[in-house]
Amino acid sequence: TAKHTAASLRAMKAVARIPMLTAYTTPVARALEKARVPVLLVGDTVGMVEMGFDSTRQVTLDHMCYHVGAVRRGAPATHIIGDLPYETDGDPETALRSARALITAGADSVKLEGPKLEVIRHLVAQGIDVVGHTGLTPQTSTNFKQVGREAPDAQRILDEARAIAGAGAFLVVLEHIPAALGEAVTRAIAVPTIGIGAGSGCDGQVLVINDAMGLGERWPPFSRQYAFMGQAIVDAAATYVGQVTGGTY
Ligand code: KIV
Ligand code: NA
Repeated sequence: TAKHTAASLRAMKAVARIPMLTAYTTPVARALEKARVPVLLVGDTVGMVEMGFDSTRQVTLDHMCYHVGAVRRGAPATHIIGDLPYETDGDPETALRSARALITAGADSVKLEGPKLEVIRHLVAQGIDVVGHTGLTPQTSTNFKQVGREAPDAQRILDEARAIAGAGAFLVVLEHIPAALGEAVTRAIAVPTIGIGAGSGCDGQVLVINDAMGLGERWPPFSRQYAFMGQAIVDAAATYVGQVTGGTY
């Protein structure tokens, strides 16, 4: 199967649902390509789930390029979205330089948080495919609580999603909002919505791979688990320790 483009993903609206997972490393990217996940996000969540930071704000453009390269080498035939990390997309020219670095590292498109409409329009005008992101936006939020519960905040998120799509984004990620708002945004915009904790009414879903695979200490309550890799490693390593210390290996 051919690698998805921004256009082919955009055209899936109301035709087929879009499964997305994050990926940060070559072996995981390889496995996800084998499983036919059509689109991978190298998210700045890498800082929290793979680097031990307590927020995504410590992640640099160099970190992101390193991980985008690793994922590209593992998944050469899969559409890869690279996340623009904190403060690398504050104005159109800075954002363009940052986006080009991610593309050079192997990304097909880039994602950025919030209604940075001038930035989105500039990147799109320069030929860069852009994914938007609203709802909970971890680079600027102080906690990870659900947003959009109150009517004014829900309206703001709906307006932001419309504006982000209007500025030229080909997908919009909706993070940690009520399911009814996820559905309302999905009906309101012409490009696919990709939800994470935004209900099953979105056009697609994205999960942080470490959360989905149970690799880590904790994960958000909305994240389904499909494996328990953390425990599998504990069990396997304990078996190994037992064999070496017991003299059987
Ligand atoms: O960085 C990331 O993994 C993300 C997803 C949570 C959407 O932005
Ligand atoms: Na992110």
